[in-house]
Amino acid sequence: MVELLLPKNSRVESGKSYKSEGNIKDNRSFLIYRYDPDTNNNPSVDRYDLDISDCGPMVLDALISIKSKLDPTLTFRRSCREGVCGSCAMNIDGTNTLACTKYISDVKGEIKIYPLPHMPVIKDLVPDLKGVYEQYNSIEPWLKTKNTENENRERLQSPQEREKLDGLYECIMCFCCSTSCPSYWWNGEKYLGPAILLQAWRWIADSRDEATQERLDSLQDSFKLYRCHTIMNCTKTCPKGLNPAKAISNIKKKMLVKS
Ligand code: SF4
Ligand code: SF4
Ligand code: FES
Repeated sequence: MVELLLPKNSRVESGKSYKSEGNIKDNRSFLIYRYDPDTNNNPSVDRYDLDISDCGPMVLDALISIKSKLDPTLTFRRSCREGVCGSCAMNIDGTNTLACTKYISDVKGEIKIYPLPHMPVIKDLVPDLKGVYEQYNSIEPWLKTKNTENENRERLQSPQEREKLDGLYECIMCFCCSTSCPSYWWNGEKYLGPAILLQAWRWIADSRDEATQERLDSLQDSFKLYRCHTIMNCTKTCPKGLNPAKAISNIKKKMLVKS
């Protein structure tokens, strides 16, 4: 009889508990995914009962408070604290979002925090983004020009041309969208996913770019682009209110016009 085993480190166990000391005024419970690759332990979910009466209102404030007061080993990424760097993206209460823009008060009951789904984990809440950045590099995300006549002058756009980049340039590369996309979960090595495809469209839509045809040709692939099945999770989850599903559909339409 075939014996099926879960892969190493795939079983999440219950972990340690930590508690604020003293006279607790406003307790909230955080259940946080922990994984340390330097041990042979399976991942666990640790419980932190934190007095939030003297911490800021956001989930990121609570994580910082937990790290400084209860458990300095808790690991997560963050930088701007303003929703502009994308580094604090994680799964909070079942949704991919930014810890720095998610209010603690918006979550009822215990607050469950996991890393972005279906990404390798470096430690605790820190996903390994190497693969997705390689995909980003593959779309050559920079302005490409051929006409060298005016190369020492600004490349101008009309207001209408510039407007076409609205809803695209605001992307902060947090990857909440790609890691909420079932197609990306199952085909993430070949399918570029909504974050990278939104970036691809950002350059195709740019009136100053002169490599539109090459960009479209490189996306003409049954996996890179056409694994999007318009499930729309990406657009629903984007913490910046962007619409990667529409960007993908724009690329597909452009492909049709071309052919
Ligand atoms: S619309 Fe496309 S990219 Fe967005 S979640 Fe669905 S399959 Fe993924
Ligand atoms: S489209 Fe939205 S969710 Fe996706 S990477 Fe950009 S900002 Fe993040
Ligand atoms: S810390 Fe920069 S987006 Fe949250």
